[in-house]
Amino acid sequence: RDAPLVLGIETSCDETGIGIVRGTELLANAIASSMDEHARYGGVVPEVAARAHLEALGPTIRAALDEASVDLADLDAVAVTNGPGLAGALMVGVGAAKALALSLETPVYAVNHLVGHVGADLIGDRPLETPSVALLVSGGHTSLLLVRDLDSDVELLGETIDDAAGEAFDKVARLLGLPYPGGPEIDRAAVGGDPDAIRFPRGLTRPKDLERHRYDFSFSGLKTAVARWVEQREAAGEPVPLADVAASFREAVVDVLVSKAIAACTDLGVPRLLLGGGVVANRRLREVAEARADAAGIALRIPPLSLCTDNGAMIAALGARLIMAGHEPSSLEFGADSTLPV
Ligand code: KG4
Ligand code: ZN
Repeated sequence: RDAPLVLGIETSCDETGIGIVRGTELLANAIASSMDEHARYGGVVPEVAARAHLEALGPTIRAALDEASVDLADLDAVAVTNGPGLAGALMVGVGAAKALALSLETPVYAVNHLVGHVGADLIGDRPLETPSVALLVSGGHTSLLLVRDLDSDVELLGETIDDAAGEAFDKVARLLGLPYPGGPEIDRAAVGGDPDAIRFPRGLTRPKDLERHRYDFSFSGLKTAVARWVEQREAAGEPVPLADVAASFREAVVDVLVSKAIAACTDLGVPRLLLGGGVVANRRLREVAEARADAAGIALRIPPLSLCTDNGAMIAALGARLIMAGHEPSSLEFGADSTLPV
């Protein structure tokens, strides 16, 4: 049987992503982002995101079909993110997926966004090996997953109990007077800075916290610590060493993310770690992850950045995987669930 031709729709946050795959082969990955519209608010505004998806969906589907040189009529199935994410944004994608599936008389597969991020690693020649630990870090999520089987057995080991890691970058950038999105700005500001200049707190890493929150994350205390440090400097009339603050903040985030991910691999005897999400754009995160995975004998996998940030190709790839593993399609009654568990 030929590998299925699947169109994937991703609208859980501010990216309208339409991807097309044939099995594990990537044919198109078209993206429209409403990021610019959110910039002046310093974060994603749900209503603005939903309206932007509605406007972008048609043209982005068209662009993906053109990129892949396929006709709608050739599709074997449609896959769509139905959660977790922004409710209104998800509904736009789910509605479009059902309309397509109904009119084309194809099955539709509702997929979990976080599992979709792991699905990004299906694309290409070497299939994802399991079991694997996955660390997903973006503006909307910070989650540690144990993937035993991508289409049937994914376990949430831990997640942030407050801000997502990317959100922490965005908030700290803002308090340092840098624009949104904060990740790349902090990266730029950190050039030449000393990552050990200021010892900012590593959330949920004290022995007592580890008992209950071994694989959970917390970044709101770190954000507050940076704010307080800067305020004290300013109150004392001393200049704020921006490069040192940015480098030290970034180090604290990266340190906790990588430590907990490596600990999960070691504890569970899983020698594979996958990274995903927009924060993977952070070079320091990749560097530290590579060094510590290497030292621990863990194989590190990082998909290309275009497949790490939110995209439709990862959703299509997961859909194709479900079909190839013989899963039944979703019934047409499924809804959007902003807090959908893995
Ligand atoms: O995956 P993504 O494009 O969208 C979602 O949030 O779902 O991730 C965007 C997030 C933003 O919070 C942004 O500040 C962060 O990823 N980010 C970075 C970097 N580039 C983007 N964070 C740290 N370092 C970066 N270089
Ligand atoms: Zn995401």
